[in-house]
Amino acid sequence: MSGEWVAWHARYGTDPALHHRLEIVRDLVRDELGSRAARPLRAISLCAGDGRDLLEVLATHPRGRTVRARLVDLEPSLVAAGRAEIERAGLSEVDFRCEDASVARAFAGAVPADLVLACGIFGNVADDDLHAFVRHLPELCARGATVVWTRGRFAPDLTPTIRRWFEEERFREITFVPIPDSTASVGAHRFEGTPRPLDPAARLFTFLPEADRPSSRAAPSDPAP
Ligand SMILES: C[S@@+](CC[C@H](N)C(=O)[O-])C[C@H]1O[C@@H](n2cnc3c(N)ncnc32)[C@H](O)[C@@H]1O
Repeated sequence: MSGEWVAWHARYGTDPALHHRLEIVRDLVRDELGSRAARPLRAISLCAGDGRDLLEVLATHPRGRTVRARLVDLEPSLVAAGRAEIERAGLSEVDFRCEDASVARAFAGAVPADLVLACGIFGNVADDDLHAFVRHLPELCARGATVVWTRGRFAPDLTPTIRRWFEEERFREITFVPIPDSTASVGAHRFEGTPRPLDPAARLFTFLPEADRPSSRAAPSDPAP
């Protein structure tokens, strides 16, 4: 996979919609830290990239250093960049693993989590696979957990269906933010159901070959996943 995702991350510096998406995700993470003062937060990030959404907030928020987090990504150079930021910011409770996040065992010992980031995944997997992922979320989430997710609204727009899938699994919508001048969007849902034990062998999702991904229907300039 090397190269493709490094190039995708470089667009954070040049693509206003992707940057806007990042700021919305960071705001949602900040809201979580602000609203859960009673006990340390447990967070996970699947396909975390270089972790810039979560790590920037943990490095700057007064409660950031109390958060126990596990980030997982397969791209070594992105993980190395994230680990350098963890070191620089002194985030001793954060663990950044260079592993396959698509198998549940990558999160053994880090769940149930209070905050689950699934950003940049939904546009890369088949629709039925995404539905199965939403059904697996009660294995990752503590009661009251917030899931933050992203997905492009390129045609046919799957986001209304995704939001319904969340509701069916007892996730109540906190917000859904379409990014202006792009098809990108960010959703956040709160888990109001009963957590389930993690099945470490469960497959959570499978990234499709690039040409087959739903996001390949987006315009080349769109931060679609
Ligand atoms: C679109 S990027 C999103 C990165 C980050 N979440 C963000 O929104 O900035 C997708 C990420 O998924 C990672 N990835 C793809 N398949 C993966 C897998 N099976 N396990 C872990 N990471 C994976 C890539 O390395 C890449 O960093």
